[in-house]
Amino acid sequence: MNDAFTPAITLTTEELKRIGDLLYRWTGMIFGEKKRYYIERRVGERMARNQIADARTYLSLVSGHTGEREALINAFTINETYFYREKHQLAALAREILPEIVRTKRPGDLVRIWSMPCSTGEEAYSIAIWLLENWPLVDAYHIEIVGSDIDTHALTQAREGRYGKRALARLPAVVAESYFEPERNHRRQIIEDLRESVHFAPANIIDGPSLAPLGRFDVILCRNLLIYFDDESRRIAAENLYACVAPGGYVCLGHSESMARMSDRFTMARLEDAIVYRRP
Ligand SMILES: C[S@@+](CC[C@H](N)C(=O)[O-])C[C@H]1O[C@@H](n2cnc3c(N)ncnc32)[C@H](O)[C@@H]1O
Repeated sequence: MNDAFTPAITLTTEELKRIGDLLYRWTGMIFGEKKRYYIERRVGERMARNQIADARTYLSLVSGHTGEREALINAFTINETYFYREKHQLAALAREILPEIVRTKRPGDLVRIWSMPCSTGEEAYSIAIWLLENWPLVDAYHIEIVGSDIDTHALTQAREGRYGKRALARLPAVVAESYFEPERNHRRQIIEDLRESVHFAPANIIDGPSLAPLGRFDVILCRNLLIYFDDESRRIAAENLYACVAPGGYVCLGHSESMARMSDRFTMARLEDAIVYRRP
């Protein structure tokens, strides 16, 4: 629903705190008084969808109904992303990280890479495209790329792989032409081969049990998520990242994020193109 048509609601201080507490417990993200406008818009939209006129009734619905909880979480996530974002890390992946990972593997072995959070899929597909374009050993190993996010609506969009001009802006034209089918209005869809080769699964970085079925990864890109967390959520996320990365494996964070103050379990490595964290 467009913000302009969302009925305005006013939450009491207590209702706003209740919503913030639920979102924090469910996602690790902080939503407080400073984001009152954002919160009222999104809760107002959910109340309108459920034809509920007062916030207290909505709060009791969302507390006990998993479908509505999922819809509320989806409404609050910030899905900003685009292809080849922070591409120096993609360069590091092909130039330094994967060559190091495969030193202990044999041709044909599985190499697992996790884009967490992947939002609408641009990061996970960027990894696939970058490796096809830049890593000479890409065909020598069985590369598995998994994209995960808490936002189930974003994951549906990721599986469809349809993107507009903004998401595609940083891709060289020749790359866009090779890996996407043109659609109307300058939109493009990722080619079927790539859509089928990248797997998407929901997961919550602060919920250890939701991560366990995904197994361990050789490389995790966890970029531009921890900026929305407080220290406690970051600490839990770091523990879970540690559990999900194989010994000797790497975690890449966003440019304004760091493991300092979050965890001393990882070894920091300064590569030519990026700073990364390695599980000893
Ligand atoms: C700004 S996007 C980052 C996407 C991509 N990694 C990038 O850097 O372009 C942040 C994503 O984090 C997701 N997110 C928020 N809380 C999460 C959680 N607890 N577990 C997993 N994903 C979460 C949101 O749904 C959103 O898609």
